[in-house]
Amino acid sequence: MGSVVVITGSAGLIGSESVRHFAALGMDVVGIDNDMRGYFFGADGSTKWNLERLTKEIGDRYTHHSLDIRDREGLDRVFAQLGKNIGLVIHAAAQPSHDWAAREPFTDFDVNAVGTINMLEAARKHAIDAPFIFTSTNKVYGDTPNSLPLVEKETRFELPEDHKWFQGIDETMSIDSSMHSIFGASKVAADVMVQEYGRYFDMPTAVFRGGTLTGPGHSAAELHGFLAYVMRCVMEGRLYKIYGYKGKMVRDAIHSHDLVSSFEAFFRAPRVAEIYNMGGGRFSNCSHIEAFKIAEEITGLEARTEYVDENRMGDHQWWISSTARFEEHYPDWKLTYDVPAILREMYEANQDVWKA
Ligand SMILES: NC(=O)c1ccc[n+]([C@@H]2O[C@H](COP(=O)([O-])OP(=O)(O)OC[C@H]3O[C@@H](n4cnc5c(N)ncnc54)[C@H](O)[C@@H]3O)[C@@H](O)[C@H]2O)c1
Repeated sequence: MGSVVVITGSAGLIGSESVRHFAALGMDVVGIDNDMRGYFFGADGSTKWNLERLTKEIGDRYTHHSLDIRDREGLDRVFAQLGKNIGLVIHAAAQPSHDWAAREPFTDFDVNAVGTINMLEAARKHAIDAPFIFTSTNKVYGDTPNSLPLVEKETRFELPEDHKWFQGIDETMSIDSSMHSIFGASKVAADVMVQEYGRYFDMPTAVFRGGTLTGPGHSAAELHGFLAYVMRCVMEGRLYKIYGYKGKMVRDAIHSHDLVSSFEAFFRAPRVAEIYNMGGGRFSNCSHIEAFKIAEEITGLEARTEYVDENRMGDHQWWISSTARFEEHYPDWKLTYDVPAILREMYEANQDVWKA
């Protein structure tokens, strides 16, 4: 098996954490990222800063291609050149926002769905045995989670304790017949195609369906990056708009470190056509109200929030993932960061950057 990891979206949150992680294991990393996040979300969203940091930090072990994953021939050239030296593929480049997708449905679909089959084909042609990891999303379940019998509590919505998914929603939830958003639908197309390349071509592919992924590598923008944007707004004294569900919607948050350590577990013992819900689960989750309370405690500052009584289309009212399936396959893997630890790290890492 080759010693090179190909990582798309290598300057993004998950991509950059993956670059660091696998370079530290002694592997050579080839990154693909064209800073399209800057196009999606403007200057706040650009990942140029992260790429500069990465190149400095990793040095010769890291090779960067400012390539668009929509460029099929370009990808083929990179894969052809590396060939069997490729030991792992992590595909994390995407148009990641729910809300943005409806602005340019073609761009969203071309990046998320077509970009993914471009990657799968390049891998099948040149590195068919390399584990192929795809970062999908829990939005593939559409708004089906909103039909759960939620109960309103003081600071959050919650499932009754005797509900089968109280500990977290597992992969048996249907992905059919629901409102996904344009983004969710393009990710479904990619998700199913990654599974298909596993089943049909017997490739070691895995789909990791994340919920709220977070960590210090996040370029916090209003439309994407929940906890990072909460902390940024509190630290900068910016107004944060909470959309719908009285600020009581629940998200489970997983730190990029914990997600990427699950990638390593899969890399070491790959399986074929797997799907895993990945999130902070019961160990790490919060509502908007709770997140601001924790951020205020950490910073000693008062949050400025405005409530907009209109939820984003298809937004989940409550999401906690069950990681039981992954833990059954990889019993040594563990979550290490909960919400307060995630927010504290963001606060410490951005002291000089996010100022009032
Ligand atoms: N962050 C989350 O909360 C979350 C939740 C669920 C799923 N995901 C998924 O995880 C993956 C990684 O998310 P992230 O938070 O690291 O995103 P990110 O936006 O931080 O990183 C994605 C990177 O991909 C790059 N990119 C975008 N389009 C590209 C293109 N056409 N060609 C080359 N590079 C391109 C961007 O410039 C960016 O650096 C995505 O697939 C996303 O859908 C993220």
